[in-house]
Amino acid sequence: MSRRSDLGKLEAVLLDMDGTLVDSDASVERAWSTWAGENGVAAEAVLAVAHGNPSERTVRRFFPLLDDDAVALAVRRLTALQCDDLSDVVASPGAADLLTALDRLGLPWAVVTSAGTRLAKARLAAAGVEPPMLVTIDDVRHGKPDPEGYLRAAAALGVDPAACLVVEDSEPGLAAGTAAGMTTAALRGLSGDLRLNDLGHLAHLLRRARTTPWWRDAVGYQVYLPSFGDSTGDGWGDLAGVGEHLDHLTSLGVDVLWLTPFFRSPMRDHGYDIADYSAVDPLFGGEAALAGLLAEAHRRGLRVIGDLVVNHTSDDHPWFRAAASSAIDPYRDFYIWRDPAPDGGPPNNWLSHFGGPAWTFSAATGQYYLHLFRPEQPDLNWRNPVLVQQIDEVIEHWLARGLDGFRIDTAAYLVKDADLRDNPLLPADLLAPMAGVTMDWRRQDHRYDIHQPDVHTIHERWRRVADRHDAFLVGEVYELDPAALARFVDGERLHSSFWFGLVETNWDPEQIDTMLAAAVAASPRLSWVQGNHDRRRAATRYGGGETGRRRSLALHVLMALLPGTMWFYQGEELGLGDGHVPPGHGADPLGAAQPDQSRDVARTPMPWRPGPGLGFTTGRPWLPEGGRSAADTVAAQEADPASHLNALRGLMMTRRALADLLAATDEVTKVDLGAGVTAYRRGGLWAVANLRDTPVPAVDLPAPAVFDSDDAAVSPQRPKSGPVRLAPQQALLLMRPRLRWPVVRSCARRGGV
Ligand code: NOJ
Repeated sequence: MSRRSDLGKLEAVLLDMDGTLVDSDASVERAWSTWAGENGVAAEAVLAVAHGNPSERTVRRFFPLLDDDAVALAVRRLTALQCDDLSDVVASPGAADLLTALDRLGLPWAVVTSAGTRLAKARLAAAGVEPPMLVTIDDVRHGKPDPEGYLRAAAALGVDPAACLVVEDSEPGLAAGTAAGMTTAALRGLSGDLRLNDLGHLAHLLRRARTTPWWRDAVGYQVYLPSFGDSTGDGWGDLAGVGEHLDHLTSLGVDVLWLTPFFRSPMRDHGYDIADYSAVDPLFGGEAALAGLLAEAHRRGLRVIGDLVVNHTSDDHPWFRAAASSAIDPYRDFYIWRDPAPDGGPPNNWLSHFGGPAWTFSAATGQYYLHLFRPEQPDLNWRNPVLVQQIDEVIEHWLARGLDGFRIDTAAYLVKDADLRDNPLLPADLLAPMAGVTMDWRRQDHRYDIHQPDVHTIHERWRRVADRHDAFLVGEVYELDPAALARFVDGERLHSSFWFGLVETNWDPEQIDTMLAAAVAASPRLSWVQGNHDRRRAATRYGGGETGRRRSLALHVLMALLPGTMWFYQGEELGLGDGHVPPGHGADPLGAAQPDQSRDVARTPMPWRPGPGLGFTTGRPWLPEGGRSAADTVAAQEADPASHLNALRGLMMTRRALADLLAATDEVTKVDLGAGVTAYRRGGLWAVANLRDTPVPAVDLPAPAVFDSDDAAVSPQRPKSGPVRLAPQQALLLMRPRLRWPVVRSCARRGGV
């Protein structure tokens, strides 16, 4: 099963009991240890084989000479030991969420276990689970790995085995599912067609498999490839390094991963200068590493999108080398060449983002070529139909190889004014409100070099290709006016576009309120982001330290309600501020031209755990570690229930549990709950936040809170009603009460929803 859409075709879910649906580990261990002691065998040896196998097989393994009666006696003893001790048997984490999802999706389910009927009934009752169908070892001739139990359940449900999903946490169980011709989902890091963190993960995948299009309301995560995970110790991130951290992403509720460019590149702009669109750079691990990552991601139900960088290539691309070699070369018109101005200087006043003119003179042919970024990043000529055709093929190539779409780099830049007219200068008091560029660049009104309306035709063309592959296209469009941005996602243009209002701002609650309201009203297809690899980190821009983190979390709560897709930039889930990069240790070409705009601060290595290399690398990282503290790391935050990471995980797990309500409507309205409160409503859900630095006197909530950024005890199962006094940056999700939640005895400590 490589795609989530395959899950949409399932007709039944067959669940193993112990360790899968029911957390009985301690009870099983106690019973087998007692039995091992009574019979003079080593408990560890017995425990190593007992799990997943019928008791009879384990007994025979240790006492091969016993006759059938003696084996039956031993099994009875074990059953008695286990039935007598059910004190800590509970439903597994996520079980309630899964059973609710199965109920709502109308998917039949059954329990198929290696335990006997008496024990199975006792355990399931202790966990509060009532399966509509139970197949035990007493119903079959052989237990797992024999497929009989699973086949019997499928037959009784009247479902084709090929349309069943087996959920297991042991090798014999997975073998039984595979032998039955069923799709398997594995827990505890085992290998099945799907790999699950817990049952809540499966509930989420089943719901999402029935969501159309698949990216609707999805949660995205940007991986800045050079700085996420290094599997080789060379200090530079790679694709296998990403593969090592996929469970971190699924535990955050991520649905789709955006990988910054992995194509062959001289890395003058760290991959945003591509020399071969059809090759994976060896520095990132080459073709095999990409194939491995895609397989592992898809196995977890994660989609993966690439980065389509086609405003420009590298000057090392064979197209450019050919184009620069002669004015009559067939590739000449793939790029934009012009004669010098009468004074011998550049043909017009356009500027490079990274400083200086956007034109470089090429002595070999006596003309200038255009580059809106570095001279090593020549701009492609999108008015050339041959180029247009070539890029279609690039897109086809990667979508056929398994990518699930693309983030479109500088999506609004591709087409330039046909006459290459000079940009007007802005009045001195009206500089463009944009970070990530030099001061000179901000002085111009970029009327002719970027954001030309013809670009929509190209996006429409790509959309047709993408839709054939069920792929997703999300644009990088620095158009802060939401109404203008909405035109990029109108009709059959891009599926979505990032709205950078929350990225191009420092903390100004009034302004954020106004901008956000305009963006929400403009389109239900925007992608919500607070940061990326090109701007200072959100927690820093929002004030730094604990205040910056609280503000960022409050905005995440609002984002969680909004239609479209919501995104995290790597490290944002940890509330990371800017990394510290001492002068002289940076690598960013923009930072070289304008140090206060250096993007290195957002690109220092992902801190996985304390210690040298931060768990990012065993070698010397390509950028400084950034001055991270132990508390900044994933390892430390996972262990701290009050960490930023756990708060965000709680938010995202709550959002998952509300998925059907989100799916009910895309219509979002701003709600007035009193001065100082930012509130939105989407059907039966509300997001409410105090973005100000002063408390808001008691607010009458229109529905009970099911998430509270200041109270981890609040959840869909433990809602909070009544008036609330909102602390500064406190944010809530509210839900109109549901009629019923399934009753299972779950262990809250382990996160059972
Ligand atoms: C936008 C990318 O995000 C940035 O990192 C890059 O430098 C430019 N486009 C040029 O490709």
